[in-house]
Amino acid sequence: MNGISTIDLDRIDLDQINLDQVAADLSSGSWAVCKNFLSLAECEGLVTDIENLRHAQHMHRAGVGSADRYQQNTLVRSDAIFWLEEAALTTAQHIAWDRLQTLRTTLNRHLYLGLRDLEAHLTHYAPNGHYSKHVDNFQGKSSRILSCIVYLNLDWNPGDGGELRLFAPDDEEKLIAEVAPRAGTLACFLSRDIPHEVTTTAKDRFSLTGWFR
Ligand code: OGA
Ligand code: MN
Repeated sequence: MNGISTIDLDRIDLDQINLDQVAADLSSGSWAVCKNFLSLAECEGLVTDIENLRHAQHMHRAGVGSADRYQQNTLVRSDAIFWLEEAALTTAQHIAWDRLQTLRTTLNRHLYLGLRDLEAHLTHYAPNGHYSKHVDNFQGKSSRILSCIVYLNLDWNPGDGGELRLFAPDDEEKLIAEVAPRAGTLACFLSRDIPHEVTTTAKDRFSLTGWFR
């Protein structure tokens, strides 16, 4: 831990989060939302981390594609990211990382997804940012199984934009859910099945984004 987070975090009581329901929803529809995955104080700790990382110029423009086809393309996505390293997590990052591991073991128990490794980054979209419609594991060409996004926006209001829109696995024009990026909310979905997009932001939007392989 590098001690970036100094506030005293009041931890969520794990018993109050219904991860069994997340498993049931994933199983029936390939997506799930859980509104109190992190407490507001836990979100605040991560936002402080992001602010410190921005000041230190450690948040970097994200790219699209992988390996030889990697490119930075503001037409597709406009976020800045910081990849977490398990050996160098702050207190706030550690809590979120552990909570995602609890989700992992719960889902493995219910759904036999065989989730093993977690990769995750902190994410910032500036005002007027977006992420065009895409699939995280296009045609099964990457090993990503489950996509997870935890939102950190303490004062998000309707009209602020930056909603996550999910589309049907068999019809990418059919909207099936719109998720407000409110602090504490977890959205997760099967990386191969669900086309999704981030609508244009009207103000700064913070999140922690992770994938299980
Ligand atoms: C992504 C993504 C959605 C969001 O990073 O691949 O789709 O709500 N993010 O931030
Ligand atoms: Mn995505």
